[in-house]
Amino acid sequence: MNEIASALAGKFVVFDGPDGSGKSTQMKRFMQWCREQGLVVKEVREPGGTAIGEQIRQVLLDPVNEGMTIQCEMLLYMASRAQLVEQEIVPALSRGELVVADRFVSATLAYQGAAGGLPTKWIQQVAEVAVSGHWPDITLILDVDDVTAASRLNPLLDRMELKGREFHRRVREGFLEQARLMPDLYCVIDSSQDADAVETAVQNAILKQFCTEIPQK
Ligand code: TMP
Repeated sequence: MNEIASALAGKFVVFDGPDGSGKSTQMKRFMQWCREQGLVVKEVREPGGTAIGEQIRQVLLDPVNEGMTIQCEMLLYMASRAQLVEQEIVPALSRGELVVADRFVSATLAYQGAAGGLPTKWIQQVAEVAVSGHWPDITLILDVDDVTAASRLNPLLDRMELKGREFHRRVREGFLEQARLMPDLYCVIDSSQDADAVETAVQNAILKQFCTEIPQK
């Protein structure tokens, strides 16, 4: 195992950001790079990632559920998360794997908090229950302006993506605000650059957080 792999083994990294930020592509590239370093990578996604969580995901994203209250929505995201933490994340971390999550509590703070209007304190209190102490070591926010984001979305939008421009502007602001408040635990990556540049920026952010002795690219 090389130096990067030993620094990242047993760590928990989250990719998050507005819809259309290119997070899934970048996660794939990042996990490939990590595997090349010799790491065992555990990939999880939210909402979902377990059989129970995938059922919750269907309820959350189905456009038929437009009457869902914001409280119900927040609790369902957290319920899916609680199952994922216990069933997948904690065992992988204790096996010394690198856990890479597609969204986490940061998404609830941005979507149901900053954009949806729920107080941050409520979300944090429920999150304490859902994650039971297993907070990420770093959350990478892939940041993108709304015009670029909209151009990257599949034309068949889900219930969350259908919420409109102003909602998504507040989501983006919610992510940036978290990064301003917790600079040691968050890193904002400019995701409007081309994919290769974003990939390098992601790797540099990881080296800076976990391997201070290895020079960045
Ligand atoms: P995805 O597109 O990354 O699979 O995420 C599904 C949608 O769910 C996306 O629009 C973001 C939204 N979401 C929340 O609103 N709150 C959350 O806590 C999470 C995890 C996702």
